[in-house]
Amino acid sequence: MVNPVRKAVFPVAGLGTRFLPATKVMPKEMLTIVDKPLIQYAVEEAMDAGIDEFVLVTGRGKHLMEDHFDHAYELEAILAERGKELELEAVERVAPDPGKMSYTRQRRPLGLGHAVWCARQFIAGEPFAVLLPDDLVQADQGCLRQMVTAYGEVGGNIVAVEDVPREHTDRYGILDVAEDDGRLARARGVVEKPAPSDAPSTLSIIGRYILQPEVLEYLNRHETGAGGEIQLTDAIENTVMDIPLHGLRFKGRRFDCGTKIGFVAANVAFASAREELRSEIRAELLGID
Ligand code: UTP
Repeated sequence: MVNPVRKAVFPVAGLGTRFLPATKVMPKEMLTIVDKPLIQYAVEEAMDAGIDEFVLVTGRGKHLMEDHFDHAYELEAILAERGKELELEAVERVAPDPGKMSYTRQRRPLGLGHAVWCARQFIAGEPFAVLLPDDLVQADQGCLRQMVTAYGEVGGNIVAVEDVPREHTDRYGILDVAEDDGRLARARGVVEKPAPSDAPSTLSIIGRYILQPEVLEYLNRHETGAGGEIQLTDAIENTVMDIPLHGLRFKGRRFDCGTKIGFVAANVAFASAREELRSEIRAELLGID
């Protein structure tokens, strides 16, 4: 029996420089896909996977996210008064139960590993999930839920992976694969952003992790890695002799909403998947040169 995953960390303290000026004041996780901010998609995916405690590691714009996941009394009262049931339901549904969502500040964007380390009090010795909201996965069954199923089978550390073209390995954490059954790949290591010629495989990590609390031991040391940042993949690599590491080829399509192309493509894909929007969206797109 593996220790269940009840907690999730959402690192949302990056600078989002690829989305300036949109992210001058607003964190990129508040960017909207159709009618919902990225952070809400991620929180809902975690809820669907059975997570019931959430921590957001924030930088700028913290209050926007706090307000988003809180009750909006005035707005809710007006919607109720006007009989706007659907809208009211959409607004009310956002808020997790009181006390289930907390916030901590990263203070300085020293890297993803550092952001996760900032949540150490919340993690408190339990296995935990990490979701990067700018990686959005469109899937019949949520990506984290698929990972929780795999975790029940093999335990240890699990990362969501997909194959990338070899020329792009220097953008991702790449697994050094020992065994691969086509769904789960057992890794003997992981390398952050290797040059294509040095990459041990083309299996890249996307922003979903299930991790054991031991990864924090490495993060406690504050060692910097690729790009001068404190890297989460280095912490995972550091535990690989003691804790099995698997990559799950999840079912679904991942959009990198931290890039303009991925963000626009996600908007089109998520709108097209909605019954009430599909035909009009397609007609609009056909009309664009
Ligand atoms: P990115 O590598 O996409 O960096 O971070 P970024 O700063 O958000 O965006 P760009 O490259 O400047 O456009 C991946 C994830 O890790 C979080 C980000 O918020 C994002 O979810 N992160 C990154 C932190 O929370 N803290 C950090 O110090 C770095």
